[in-house]
Amino acid sequence: MSDSDQTAAVAFGPDGKPVHDEIVAARRDVGADDSARANRAWWDEQAEDYYAEHGAFLGDAELVWGPEGVRESDLHLLGDVAGADVLEIGAGAAQGGRYVARTGARVVATDLSAGMLRRARAIDGSARVDDADEKGARATLPLVQCDGRALPFADASFDIVFSAHGVLAFVADPHVVLAEVARVLRPGGRAVFSTPHPMRWCFPDDPGPAGLVATMSYWDTTPYVESLAGRPTYAEHHRTLGARLREFVSAGLEVVDLLEPEWPDENTSVWGGWSPTRGAILPGTCIWVARRPG
Ligand SMILES: C[S@@+](CC[C@H](N)C(=O)[O-])C[C@H]1O[C@@H](n2cnc3c(N)ncnc32)[C@H](O)[C@@H]1O
Repeated sequence: MSDSDQTAAVAFGPDGKPVHDEIVAARRDVGADDSARANRAWWDEQAEDYYAEHGAFLGDAELVWGPEGVRESDLHLLGDVAGADVLEIGAGAAQGGRYVARTGARVVATDLSAGMLRRARAIDGSARVDDADEKGARATLPLVQCDGRALPFADASFDIVFSAHGVLAFVADPHVVLAEVARVLRPGGRAVFSTPHPMRWCFPDDPGPAGLVATMSYWDTTPYVESLAGRPTYAEHHRTLGARLREFVSAGLEVVDLLEPEWPDENTSVWGGWSPTRGAILPGTCIWVARRPG
C-alpha cells in the first residue's frame, strides 16, 4: 500500500553529505539486500507522512486489508484469535496488531523500519487507544524491529502470522519470508497476507482513466526501482499469481483461499493509484489465506 513519489528520498555520498540529484525510476534488477536497505530508509523517511495521509482511513486499532477498505472485523480471515499467539510482520504503525490484541490475542508487531515502529509507539500513547484501553484493550503492543526475511523468533511460536500489504511486495526474495513464516508457525497455524493484486503491475500507477490502460507486461517481473545517483532508494517486486502460489507451496504452506476484494461503492477515497475509478474495473488487492499443515 505504498504510493511512492519520486522526490521522497535522500542519498548520501561517500563523504556522508547528501547527494543532490534527481530520483530516477526504472525497471531494473536490484539485489535482495540493496532492496531491503533502500526500503528501510524509504519507510523511515516516509513514516510520518504515510500516517498523516492514511492514518484516519486505517484507524488506529483496525485491521484494514487494503485501500478497498475491507476489514478483518467483516472478513474474519484470521479465524478465532482469542488467546492466540499472533505475529504481525510489515506492521507499519501496527494498527492491525492493535485490533487483534483488542480481540483477545497476544500480539507481537514487527517491521523493518524504526520510523514506522516509532509511529506505532506514538499511537499507543494516543487518546484514541487510551479510550480503547478503558474497554479492556491492551494499550502497548510489544514491537520488534526486524526484517521479515529473518524473524528473531523460535520455531513454532505463533498460531497466526499476518501482514496487510507489508513485506512481500518489497522484497526480492519473498520465498525467504514465507519460509520464515512457516518456520515460526505452529502446525495447523494460519498465515494471512494481503499484497497488491498482480494485475496492477500492467497498469500505470494513476488513479484516473490513464490508470486503466495496460502498458506493461504481466509476465515481466523486473522490479520497479527508484534510485538516486545510481543507488536504490525504493523498490517494489512483482510476482504473477502462479509464481506467488508456488512460493507459498514451496515454503510448506497450504493455500486455502485467495480473496480479490471488490471496491465498495461507499469507498470514495483515493490511495496512490488505487481509486473508485480503477476499483470499479480492476482488482487492487489479493489476500492470501494459508495454513501450516499439521
Ligand atoms: C504499505 S506499508 C504497510 C504497513 C501496514 N501493514 C499498513 O497496513 O499500513 C509496508 C510496510 O512493510 C514494511 N516492510 C518493507 N519491507 C520489509 C521487510 N523486508 N521486512 C519487514 N517489513 C518490511 C515497511 O517498513 C512498511 O511499514
